[in-house]
Amino acid sequence: MSAARETTRGRPAAEILRWSRALLDPALRAAVGELSGEMRGIAEYHFGWRDAAGGPADAPAGKAVRPALAFLAAEAVGGGAADAVPAAVAIELAHNFSLLHDDVMDGDTERRHRATAWSLFGATPAVLAGDALLACAVEGLAADTVGGPAVRTFGRAVRELVEGQSADISFERRADVTLAECEAMAAKKTGALIGGACALGAIFGGGSPARVARLRGFGERVGLAFQIVDDLLGIWGDAAVTGKPVHSDLVNRKKSLPVVAALTSGTSEAAELAALYHRAEPLAAPDAARAADLVARAGGRAWANARAAELRAEALTELDAAAPAPSVRDDLAELARLLTDRDH
Ligand code: IPE
Ligand code: MG
Ligand code: MG
Repeated sequence: MSAARETTRGRPAAEILRWSRALLDPALRAAVGELSGEMRGIAEYHFGWRDAAGGPADAPAGKAVRPALAFLAAEAVGGGAADAVPAAVAIELAHNFSLLHDDVMDGDTERRHRATAWSLFGATPAVLAGDALLACAVEGLAADTVGGPAVRTFGRAVRELVEGQSADISFERRADVTLAECEAMAAKKTGALIGGACALGAIFGGGSPARVARLRGFGERVGLAFQIVDDLLGIWGDAAVTGKPVHSDLVNRKKSLPVVAALTSGTSEAAELAALYHRAEPLAAPDAARAADLVARAGGRAWANARAAELRAEALTELDAAAPAPSVRDDLAELARLLTDRDH
């Protein structure tokens, strides 16, 4: 392993993700292949391996950044990336379970530049396909010798993700969400699984509890920063680049982090934004554009950018405390940069 690492030192994110995808894909495809009937077709559509009619496809299947983090975390503690394949597969399955459900909950019709699974196949079949992916993840993890700690780490991450999703949805109906509550929600819905990917990879790599905890801390901070950037892109991202509909978070009146930072800013723009956000009638496109403008003028955009930068720095401190080999450290830092400084 060490000779291979030498030659890949300082590699760019795209190369890390290609390396990770090649390690992941055979096992991921085999796991999804365990599903039967309509659920398998829906899952394979969602992963980009089939088109809507069930024919073979090669559509964008996401960056698979969580598996890459799991592989690198295993290496960070002195293990081999291949040791972490069950961890990477379980995390990627759980992530896609959450996306299948999330698009139903958010009513979103587009992801990764394609129609969402529920919008093509119906909400119930898409939810069941998501359930099947989650079950598959547990099955794969439990089959491995690492056993107890791995399954516990995985269960905690998924439980927190679901708690975060529950808070996200309940915040839509609340007018008094604080910034601290909003951060806690995002830390759970997104930070927990990214932290879990790092922790699980480190467990499969044979890491000590202290190093596993540091890598989890790294991933949690990267994950929260990632969600902040996701929220920014949901407002100011280019739909042609993000592959998601423009302003859908605003139309859904999501209490995303820049929005809550703006709402709690005590400015006159905050009051106008609150009136718009909490009115009875739905928001049309010009209302959403006005809301975006108010979020920026109330300081929500600047707050989000500054907070993401702060979390990125904290993440790197955690990473260094895990004492990874320098080349692995570079790769993890490069992925942290990709996730927290992106345009899609
Ligand atoms: C997604 O949250 C988080 C999970 C799926 C757990 P969002 O709803 O904010 O993310 P996107 O923009 O749909 O991916
Ligand atoms: Mg969503
Ligand atoms: Mg959501």
